[in-house]
Amino acid sequence: MRKPFIAGNWKMYKTPVEAAAFVRELKDSLKDVSGVDVAVCPPFPALWPVKEALEGSDIALGAQNMHFEKEGAFTGEVSPAMLQDLGVKYVILGHSERRACFGETDELINQKIKAAFTWGLNPIFCVGETLEERERGITKAVVEIQVLKGLAEVTAEQAENLTIAYEPVWAIGTGKTATPEDAQEVCRFIRELLVNLFGKEIAEKVRIQYGGSVKPENIKELIVQPDIDGALVGGASLKVDSFTAIVKGSI
Ligand code: PGA
Repeated sequence: MRKPFIAGNWKMYKTPVEAAAFVRELKDSLKDVSGVDVAVCPPFPALWPVKEALEGSDIALGAQNMHFEKEGAFTGEVSPAMLQDLGVKYVILGHSERRACFGETDELINQKIKAAFTWGLNPIFCVGETLEERERGITKAVVEIQVLKGLAEVTAEQAENLTIAYEPVWAIGTGKTATPEDAQEVCRFIRELLVNLFGKEIAEKVRIQYGGSVKPENIKELIVQPDIDGALVGGASLKVDSFTAIVKGSI
């Protein structure tokens, strides 16, 4: 039985001061909740204050991106070593906004995923098709390429600490959610790919989140699907009430 995993992807929202105040409230709101893993992924400048504010709570800290090198002349980048030093547990990699706005390729994402494992960070690896790809009926082919390229050279041992987020691009920030059945079908397909890559035992341990307009109103119908083990939440993770309701709805 996989433990549900709800992660908040804050994107480029909340200053460090706002972020710390938010998690102090969130900590209180989730204090009696168990049976679910929860993470918040603030922007880089808020990681340290959020880490301090989370002290004494089970809420984990995540980042939204990183470079794959330990250090170097890469102006504006943040390294896995820096995230590890900060006590970051998870790192979102391959988000569709990184792919679309910053030109991240499957090959680059693969380098980042391997670097994350090297540094003891647990990747939340995002995959998903665009609306055009769905309408052309190539959703599975697109997701298959993303999964296979993204996970090239990842070992079964490493994959135990992997989370995959299936996020149809057309459902992100649009208010449109995939039907639970459609989301399940792709998540089931992803798990089959994982079976081929890492064997059944490991594939059954990997948590697959759904992402794309997850809200308190739809978390329940998503989480009951056999291959959906949680959610990567954008907009609804920015308010304590809605994020708390999603976390509680996932148990
Ligand atoms: P959304 O974003 O919940 O606002 O649709 C999800 C994501 O981009 O991870």
